[in-house]
Amino acid sequence: MYDRARAKGYKFCGLYALASPIGLIVDLDLAKHVMTKDFSHFVDRANFVNGKDDPLGAHLFSIGGKKWRNLRIKVTPTFTSGKLKAMFKTLTDCGVILEKYFQETLTNGDAVDIKDVFARFTTDIIGSCAFGIECNSFKEPDSPFRLYGQKFFTVTRLRSLQFAIAANFPALGRLVKVRAVAKDITEFFVKVVEDTVAYREKNNVRRNDVLQLLIDIKNNKEGRENGYKGDGKSLTMDELTAQCFVFFIAGFETSSTTATFVLYELATHQDIQDKVREEIHTVLAKHDNKITSDSLSELTSMRQVIDE
Ligand code: HEM
Repeated sequence: MYDRARAKGYKFCGLYALASPIGLIVDLDLAKHVMTKDFSHFVDRANFVNGKDDPLGAHLFSIGGKKWRNLRIKVTPTFTSGKLKAMFKTLTDCGVILEKYFQETLTNGDAVDIKDVFARFTTDIIGSCAFGIECNSFKEPDSPFRLYGQKFFTVTRLRSLQFAIAANFPALGRLVKVRAVAKDITEFFVKVVEDTVAYREKNNVRRNDVLQLLIDIKNNKEGRENGYKGDGKSLTMDELTAQCFVFFIAGFETSSTTATFVLYELATHQDIQDKVREEIHTVLAKHDNKITSDSLSELTSMRQVIDE
């Protein structure tokens, strides 16, 4: 559809998802306007939310309006460059486990499901960086984090249909209690987050991570003094857990899919693979063979491949 509209020189075109009209932007300048200058008109994603029956579904990616804006402002500091640098050691520690896994597996000559390997890798990273939890996705082949993460992204036809109907007719969706996150996934995740929050609060443990930011929003002065208003300025435990869930889900699947595509493209473009390989060797030699945030920032070709 995009290719057809572009070939005809349209700046945008329209389609329907059941009864809902959707505008598909084709022109890059127009897309830039929507994301920047005119963003205030386009903040909501129009996702189906059913916080009552499906508490984990009411997260940043789905909620809209003032609540999204207030919460988004409070959570954005997670991604300052200082905070990202502070997470670097965790990242490289997970890299060592990945390297060991490859050394053990590849010497046996077995084929590896690279998407699954990267999903384990990114699950461990997001667990550690965002929540200070060891997911152990390599050590335990049946790690519940991996199993439930995988289950969330296994979309059945029935689930797609339920969701399409709910997105078009939200009142009906809520009436028949459609949920984005299955009950067993919800129960597992709620328990993990509850236990971790309780541990930190009881033992006065503070960490420099997403969970800490969310705990601080839950316990902040605003909520205590003005009472809970449901406007994203303070959080209930359910809302806090939903944000943890979206960080977990959005954090592992996107990155592992990207890494899988990158490896595929490099495998099918030997010349580019050679260039990236050469660059890695040159840059690492300059940095005492250490992967640091500075050495990574010098991998220009690598970044271009990932961006592409
Ligand atoms: C290659 C990696 C990634 C890709 C391609 C990606 C892509 C996206 C896209 C397309 C959106 C929707 C943006 C929009 O509608 O304006 C989004 C939103 C989001 N992503 Fe990612 N993402 C990636 C990695 C991550 C990671 C690592 C995390 C968490 C640590 C994350 C957390 C989120 C969250 C929380 C949202 C919702 C933000 C909001 O609405 O305020 N993503 N991502």
